[in-house]
Amino acid sequence: MKVGVFDSGIGGLTVVKSLLEQKLFEEIIYYGDTARVPYGSKDKNTIIRYSLEALEFFKNFDLDIVIIACNTASAHAISELREVSNIPVIGVIEPGVLACSQTITDKNSNILVLGTKATIGSRKYETSLKQMGYKNLISIPTGLFVPIVEEGIFEGNVLNSALAHYLEELKNIDAVILGCTHFPLIEKEISQYLGGCTTIHSGDAIVRYLKDEHNYDKNFKETKVTFFASENPESLKNTARKWLGSLLND
Ligand code: DGL
Repeated sequence: MKVGVFDSGIGGLTVVKSLLEQKLFEEIIYYGDTARVPYGSKDKNTIIRYSLEALEFFKNFDLDIVIIACNTASAHAISELREVSNIPVIGVIEPGVLACSQTITDKNSNILVLGTKATIGSRKYETSLKQMGYKNLISIPTGLFVPIVEEGIFEGNVLNSALAHYLEELKNIDAVILGCTHFPLIEKEISQYLGGCTTIHSGDAIVRYLKDEHNYDKNFKETKVTFFASENPESLKNTARKWLGSLLND
C-alpha cells in the first residue's frame, strides 16, 4: 500500500510519524508545499487551488490513498479534492472529531480547539462536536504557532510569549484539539501551559480512524518514505530526519 501525505509545510510530518510508528503503509510519498506555507492565513479559494495542485503533484506516483495531513486544507478543500480524485482522499478533521469523542466522553468537558485562522473560521470542528452534544467549546486561531514551528523553535522565549499571547486567559481546560498538524511539535508545551490537559493529535487520530472506520489493519515490516517540497526540499528532509529519527530506514 502506497500513500501520499500532503501538508502546506513540515506539519504533516507529525502524521507521518504516527503512520511510521504503526507501520501501516509500505511506502509514503510526502509533499510539503513549503513555497506557499502558511495556508492558514489564505482565503478558501486559494486553499482549494493550492490543495488541488498538490493532488496533481501526486498523479505520477500510482498511489492507493491520499491523506491530507493539513487541517486547513481538510477544512476547506476536502470535497473538491474528493471530486477530482479516483482514489480515496482522507482529511484530518473527521478523524480528529472521532478521536475527541472517543477520548473525552463527558459532554460537559471544556474542550479547546486550536488551529489556523482558516481552520477555526470554517467552524468544522465546532459544528461536528456540537452535533455530538459537546457543550463547552472554545476555539482560538493560533496561526503564529505555524511560523514558530516552521522556524524550528520548539521551546524558549518566543514560544512562551506566543503561548501567553493566545492562552493566558484560559482556565480549566480538559482537552485541547491540536487542529493543525504543526502543533504536535509543541504538544508538550501547549499541554503544560494549560495545566497538563489531554491533547488530541491529528496523526494518532488518522491511525485510529483508518483502523476503526476503514478496517485497515496492515502491518508492514518497513516503510519507505520519500520527501518532496515545492521549495527547499533539503530543509524539509533535515527536519524530517530530526523529527522522525530512527523511524526512517535510510
Ligand atoms: N499544518 C497545517 C494545518 O494542519 C497548516 C499550517 C498553515 O499552512 O497555515 O492546518
